[in-house]
Amino acid sequence: MDEAKLNQLVGQVINDLGAAASVTLVRIGDSLGLYKIMHEKGSMTCEELAQAASVHPRYLREWLAQQAASNYVTYDSATTKFTLPEEQAMLFAIEDSPVAMMGAFDGVVAWGEQAAKVQDAFRNGGGVSWGDHGPCLFCSTARFFRPGYALNLVQNWLPTLDGVVEKLKNGAQVADVGCGHGWSTVIMAQAFPKSQFVGYDFHPGSIAAAEAHGREHKLDNVRFEVGTAKEYAGGDFDLVTFFDCLHDMGDPTGAAAHVKQTLKPDGSWMVVEPMAGDKMEDNLHPRGRIFYAASTMVCVPTSLSQEVGAALGAQAGEAKLREVITAGGFGTVRRTTETPFNMVLEARV
Ligand SMILES: C[S@@+](CC[C@H](N)C(=O)[O-])C[C@H]1O[C@@H](n2cnc3c(N)ncnc32)[C@H](O)[C@@H]1O
Repeated sequence: MDEAKLNQLVGQVINDLGAAASVTLVRIGDSLGLYKIMHEKGSMTCEELAQAASVHPRYLREWLAQQAASNYVTYDSATTKFTLPEEQAMLFAIEDSPVAMMGAFDGVVAWGEQAAKVQDAFRNGGGVSWGDHGPCLFCSTARFFRPGYALNLVQNWLPTLDGVVEKLKNGAQVADVGCGHGWSTVIMAQAFPKSQFVGYDFHPGSIAAAEAHGREHKLDNVRFEVGTAKEYAGGDFDLVTFFDCLHDMGDPTGAAAHVKQTLKPDGSWMVVEPMAGDKMEDNLHPRGRIFYAASTMVCVPTSLSQEVGAALGAQAGEAKLREVITAGGFGTVRRTTETPFNMVLEARV
């Protein structure tokens, strides 16, 4: 046994446990508005923050100490003030920041909520369907992905597709499949008022939330319907989009075949999937560590609960996705762009 390696591992695991223990405290801070108040008001003593947030100072002192030990806030012993630095605010306080992480903290809790069912499935096979997860899964997914879509979809992703923005400007028919809470659908509908958008998802609770978002934004060019990826209604679409959902489907090739049937001959299928390399060993890094956790707890069980149960997993990689898409009848698949979290594929017939 190498003692230096052992000590290094102990150090790593203490850090990991500290991070895991922080999840609950970060979410309490978020729910009580502590990060947003610190971001707005700047450096504060514990008592000043307690008053501004209407919380008990004794609890807050412990929370602030844990946050300072985590490098999530800083502490100045000379003034006894705590500060949420600008960089930390980007992760914890600013909802639209490109590195907003609060949805991921919510997700970590949501992924664990159905641990007993997933553990059972390890022994007995079968799956756990999307709708059987706790409600936090749906809102955490929407909260995690929304900033990425708000900052990239219209500005950076759609322009990389062949001729699509022109069609959207002039008035196109678009289906957003596996739309969840519908943020991607709403963002596109806001940007292209002459086009008509319909969001489909097989989870009725998510469609109800998406309808509420559509109403909130007072959009008359967007609607939502319950529908599976293999059977959603309608056709003659100029564009079909799948955001972070193809790998969750039981039969992604069947879904690809249905997309082909519902697209116009010159239509485009935009598939946004988690960023991943093709081989597992390419993904053994901090981001892969998080995606494989989500995949074990949610994506694989969701797919295995459906027909076929292809279970591509959240780190499928471009080669596997390409295989599934071409097996559904598409002639070309092109990676048009990427971010640290997502790759964008364009499939044409
Ligand atoms: C990770 S979520 C992504 C949701 C949304 N597109 C987003 O980016 O926030 C995956 C979504 O796929 C949906 N889904 C999974 N399998 C499906 C299927 N066979 N047909 C339709 N929707 C499906 C789930 O209900 C869920 O809303």
